[in-house]
Amino acid sequence: MSQSKERDYVLGTHDEELARLGVQHRAWRPVVLDCWKQAGITNGSRVLDVGAGPGYATVDLAEIVGPGGRVVAVERSSNFVNAIKSAIETQSLSNVDVHELDLMNDDLPDGPFDFSWCRWVLCFVSDPELLVKKISRVTRRGGRAIFHEYGHYTTWRFFPQRASLEEFRSHVIATWREAGGEPDTGLQLPSWLTKNGFTVRMAAPRIFCLQSNDYMWQWPAQFIHVHLLRLQELGRIDAEFADKVRADLAAAEKEKPSFMLTPLVLEIVAEKV
Ligand SMILES: C[S@@+](CC[C@H](N)C(=O)[O-])C[C@H]1O[C@@H](n2cnc3c(N)ncnc32)[C@H](O)[C@@H]1O
Repeated sequence: MSQSKERDYVLGTHDEELARLGVQHRAWRPVVLDCWKQAGITNGSRVLDVGAGPGYATVDLAEIVGPGGRVVAVERSSNFVNAIKSAIETQSLSNVDVHELDLMNDDLPDGPFDFSWCRWVLCFVSDPELLVKKISRVTRRGGRAIFHEYGHYTTWRFFPQRASLEEFRSHVIATWREAGGEPDTGLQLPSWLTKNGFTVRMAAPRIFCLQSNDYMWQWPAQFIHVHLLRLQELGRIDAEFADKVRADLAAAEKEKPSFMLTPLVLEIVAEKV
């Protein structure tokens, strides 16, 4: 993995981001487990984990499909691939394969897969429809592609309103777009799926209204802390602005009443026809 490839992924692949993805997975875990169950993932399933990150979902999937099933994780970052390998080893999982590859430039591993799981990846790649096409090629007829992608990122708001946090959100959207991604990719996904051999079985919004004592609060809160450093590293914001955002987040955590509406995620499940 070249340093430039590691760098062109807008969120970064450093250790703080690796840990953040763990917090994020744990916050979303009940929603995700329910989604997988409804979609039909079970003992013996063969599942492709697309853009698996450090493999938090990979490990859960491996436990669900059991020794008779298989999970194939694909990921471009060597730092994250190493994290997946070490999790597999620590947990003695014998039903996981890991491939270090670029979803845009490389072929996906041969299927056929019963399921694919793709979360917060289409929003970062330069040609998300191409990725849908590749997923379609390796999915068996009757198999299901499952996605969690943003559908309306600007639903992410604090109330009472916090101006610096809204400005932070605008920076996030701008940097993703400058890096060739599109936060609200979920909106186009049903059309791409239909054009590429799938029937969309369900699409549902996943959005939460949180207070700071809710477990899920730490998901966006930690994203703010880690991504402020990333935005500074990218030269997009200065230390003064970062401090203002941190102070506003701390106020939102302390003052009552204070709520956060999360960025809307679309859960989409499609069946290969
Ligand atoms: C926000 S993370 C989500 C990780 C994981 N799906 C999860 O939900 O925890 C996005 C992931 O997509 C990977 N990614 C982005 N562009 C990629 C590409 N072109 N090829 C392979 N992986 C890519 C990143 O390295 C990162 O691990």
